[in-house]
Amino acid sequence: MYRALYRKWRPTVFSDVSGQPHVTETLMHEVETGKLSHAYLFTGSRGTGKTTCAKILAKAVNCLHPVGGNPCCECEICRGIDDGSVLDVIEIDAASNNGVDNIRDLREEANFTPVRAKYRVYIIDEVHMLSIGAFNALLKILEEPPSYVLFILATTEVHKLPSTILSRCQRFDFHHIPPESIAERLQYVASQEKIDLTDEAAVMIARYADGALRDALSLLDRCSAKGETITPDVVSACAGIAGKTYLFQMADCIASHNAADALRLIGDLHAASCNMERLCVELTEHFRNLMVTKVVRDPQNLIICSKEDMESYRKQCGAFTLETILHILTVLGDTTANLKRGLDRKIETEMAVLRLCTPSLSTDPDAILRRVAELERKLASGTVSIQNAVETSAPIIEEKQEQVAQTQPQIPQTADVPAEQAQQTTSALFRLWPEVLLILKETSKPISGLLVGSTAYVSDNTLRIKSNNAAIAQFLALPLYAGAIQSAVEKVSGKKMHIEMYDTHTEEKKTDPLENLIRKIDTLQQRK
Ligand SMILES: Nc1ncnc2c1ncn2[C@@H]1O[C@H](COP(=O)(O)OP(=O)(O)OP(=O)(O)O)[C@@H](O)[C@H]1O
Ligand SMILES: [Mg+2]
Ligand SMILES: [Zn+2]
Repeated sequence: MYRALYRKWRPTVFSDVSGQPHVTETLMHEVETGKLSHAYLFTGSRGTGKTTCAKILAKAVNCLHPVGGNPCCECEICRGIDDGSVLDVIEIDAASNNGVDNIRDLREEANFTPVRAKYRVYIIDEVHMLSIGAFNALLKILEEPPSYVLFILATTEVHKLPSTILSRCQRFDFHHIPPESIAERLQYVASQEKIDLTDEAAVMIARYADGALRDALSLLDRCSAKGETITPDVVSACAGIAGKTYLFQMADCIASHNAADALRLIGDLHAASCNMERLCVELTEHFRNLMVTKVVRDPQNLIICSKEDMESYRKQCGAFTLETILHILTVLGDTTANLKRGLDRKIETEMAVLRLCTPSLSTDPDAILRRVAELERKLASGTVSIQNAVETSAPIIEEKQEQVAQTQPQIPQTADVPAEQAQQTTSALFRLWPEVLLILKETSKPISGLLVGSTAYVSDNTLRIKSNNAAIAQFLALPLYAGAIQSAVEKVSGKKMHIEMYDTHTEEKKTDPLENLIRKIDTLQQRK
């Protein structure tokens, strides 16, 4: 039967454990001098050697011929522990034996002296999973352990342990294993397994594994299944870090504020059963890489990717300011959190991308900073001067005013003015309406359903909803719903407004000058 590499190559002596000298050297010294504690606590992130060291320690303290603190792995005790015939080393998985009864049994059993070995060793893995009752039972025995009993507790989540337990253990923190140590161990395993692994590929696997040797060996396993020399290309293919052109495409859409293409891309990915949560994580990673490329002189040490992708990052990062990237990362972070809360994945992702493509939809300071930064970049790049921007924005506004001026004399100042025409020239489109709808989706589902497809106009302190759905008027008459809209509007605009249906009132047209300026610059650039 095939055994996964990480199982097959679990170190059997301390000297083979990579990257944890502060743990292994101390333990070897304790074994050698016989100055053992009664309780050890091994903590640290996953796949860094906690269970491995617990198993080695259990053997080392019982070995008949230990070698410099390491177990010999050959005496009857060492072999008996390995094949399970020596029953004095007991491994308990607290994830499945977390009750107080399990620990009570353990306490009774611990009263008997070991059968064959010197110490009865209890390895309690994932110890943070014990119930409170079980912790209390464990505490009793940790307070007065029989001289021949030794506990080794292992956990990734040390903060979940009661301090009473912590204070009775000798604690060892397992570190992330440095990439060089991982690469070295990978080369060792590869040579034993006759796997052809280039040095570059080993380093790439090591960086991808992010400090966990188990993950590194699993990836080596996957790469070796291809049966060819393992190169960085093989690694990117196996780790799923290659062929991510859609991430570059999406970033292009965001840079060029092309919401239509971005939504189309999401549609395609969704149709190809791409997991939306994964997509958000990948996009976050992508923009993190763009940020690093922008800020760091030699980014290749901090980004795991092929040379071609590195080149693409270099090219693409010029399209974003740092503020923009930070804004994007914030939105993506919020979205990932929303997705975890179980909201509709596709819609949430689409909303996020829409926000990223149209920062003007958002009034949060990050989004505004981003808009200002984009403006500054365009001005600094010389594509446009302030003079230019103002000149081009001015005529467009004037054009409209002219239209108004031309039409006005012909229209009598009475109510038979076509309502729409009159209002378009007088009240301003309320650009934050989509944000209001987003809030209502959370706070007042019925009304948000009715408002699909609506728009809103604002003048002074009155917001007018324009929609073909006549039922809205009836809902607006109810304080519950009017109040919900009002507070959502207040949330995004900071203004308490009177809410009513769109009618023939006439007001002065107001526009967002910043928005205008950005739009003008965009059109200018497109013309170039
Ligand atoms: N420091 C290390 N040196 C050598 N190999 C290691 C090391 N850490 C992990 N490994 C490899 O990874 C496998 C899993 O390691 P181990 O079970 O000790 O991790 P762990 O820290 O207990 O992880 P978890 O928190 O997930 O239980 C081992 O069988 C071994 O192949
Ligand atoms: Mg473990
Ligand atoms: Zn031995």
